[in-house]
Amino acid sequence: MAHRFDYLVLGSGAAGLSFALAVAEHGSVGVVTKKESAESNTNYAQGGIAAVIDSADSVEAHVRDTLIAGAGLCDEDVVRLVVKEGPRRIAELMAQGAGFTESNKRLHLGREGGHSANRIVHAADATGREVERTLLDQVRDHPNIQVFEYHYAVELITEHHLGESVSRARPAEHCYGAYVLDEESNRVHRVLAKVTMLATGGAGRVYLHTTNPAIATGDGIAMAYRAKARVANMEFVQFHPTSLHHPEADSFLISEAVRGHGALLRNTDGERFMPGYDDRCELAARDIVARAIDDQLKQRGDAFVHLDITHESRDELQEHFPTIYEKCASLGLDMSTDLIPVVPAAHYVCGGVVTDVDAQTSIHGLLACGEVTYTGLHGANRLASNSLLEALVLSQRAVASALKQAAVRHFQDDVPEWDDSGTEYPAEWVLVSHNRDELRRVMWDYVGIVRSVHRLERARRRTRLLYEETEDFYRKSKVSVEVCELRNMIAVAYLIVRSASQRRESRGLHYMTDYPDLVGSERHPTFI
Ligand code: FAD
Ligand code: SIN
Repeated sequence: MAHRFDYLVLGSGAAGLSFALAVAEHGSVGVVTKKESAESNTNYAQGGIAAVIDSADSVEAHVRDTLIAGAGLCDEDVVRLVVKEGPRRIAELMAQGAGFTESNKRLHLGREGGHSANRIVHAADATGREVERTLLDQVRDHPNIQVFEYHYAVELITEHHLGESVSRARPAEHCYGAYVLDEESNRVHRVLAKVTMLATGGAGRVYLHTTNPAIATGDGIAMAYRAKARVANMEFVQFHPTSLHHPEADSFLISEAVRGHGALLRNTDGERFMPGYDDRCELAARDIVARAIDDQLKQRGDAFVHLDITHESRDELQEHFPTIYEKCASLGLDMSTDLIPVVPAAHYVCGGVVTDVDAQTSIHGLLACGEVTYTGLHGANRLASNSLLEALVLSQRAVASALKQAAVRHFQDDVPEWDDSGTEYPAEWVLVSHNRDELRRVMWDYVGIVRSVHRLERARRRTRLLYEETEDFYRKSKVSVEVCELRNMIAVAYLIVRSASQRRESRGLHYMTDYPDLVGSERHPTFI
């Protein structure tokens, strides 16, 4: 069976939904999403959206902060473009109904690490939920948009599926849509499109400890890589310094805005340690704070450090951080009197599918936007709250190129049906769950905050074995979300390990004990 849409959008986070709404004014749109529509990294974003709103702030200051965090690898033109367009996107979201926190009838602007000014627009500590709600309300009402929940994109359709050979060197490859698994009927459909937008988000679940929800398995990066799109900078994985350390918390995020509000980091003896690592103390950029915590844990043999915001009153904390306050309270912690145990956790992948500033990938008809991409904005380390900003700005920049391509492209009707001949429903699910757990542990232990040549080599060998076993299982099995996700996580792990092994220096989020310094000749993105 085949569906046909002018525009196929894979993913229903900030990037996918804001693109879908814009192109729906010009044609039919199918939004494919693997769980309920709201389930996305976007929905869990806490701190907010960085934008120059305050008259005392400036575009140049936001550009400068982004470039400093990016440690020499940002594309300055992209940074300036995104930062400049930020305030307009915030105004649009508010016109669409987003309710952001105000103080004295003006937007309340929070502070986060690496920012030299208060510029974080937020909805208390649940900004992503408000953005997602605003966009989804409109998408659900739009007559040109059809949303397919519990539909899983398995592969991008290219010339490969027409029997032609494709390679990364081939200049004129095209995307014709995607094979999509209906999770209820267990059938794979062809979804044909003139333009496909890849907005499948990040890959935090590749690591054992992550702030990301279960959907973040790197499917889009892996699908695009298999389709021979260009991918870059995968070694730059951001670890958020403060996820809640509690057996029942599943690495719940304690927003950087809490440190922006004055919270201090202390070791388990109660000593404040950040002044010994960076002049900006608790508000240094994330890579620095995460490495400092990692260093404290390793030196002292502790399992966590403490975040201390006990100088604030209960009322103040409940007003500014209602979600975090409630989560801590549900685990028996009162933020106004108790120290919060925290550890770093994988949070954001700065690399991804290479696009230009109009969201064009290296494959015709395939656009990409949001966390799945590498655009040049984040460089070697993303500045806090620049991610929702990127998704909102570049999804709108993508519209012009989408319309142009849709006007000249047609549906590729001779794409064959999904072929599952010779496959069976697997009996041994233990291989999938074991390999998934093992992969996440290998990545956490060997490809984490601090890396070495030896650890990366171990990770390469282990992930190779997991790859071979899983590919064998995949070839023999009827397609399923579990196996596809595992394949994709292994592909993403491979890309991270390969990129990390290529970079022989320490820069931004990539810290190698064998190469502890910045190396001028390494100042370039890692393309694959
Ligand atoms: P997502 O919002 O992750 O959406 C991806 C979508 O793709 C989902 O709907 C998913 O189900 C779908 N999908 C994935 N694979 C498939 C598939 N194979 N088939 C079909 N559908 C698929 N950034 C900020 O700027 N400010 C913040 O305050 C902030 N806080 C954060 C807090 C947390 C806890 C987390 C996890 C992230 C935070 N980030 C923050 C990062 C930011 O939320 C994300 O980078 C951003 O929301 C990504 O948006 P996106 O649209 O690209 O992807
Ligand atoms: C946070 O609230 O600390 C997350 C912000 C971000 O990831 O940009």
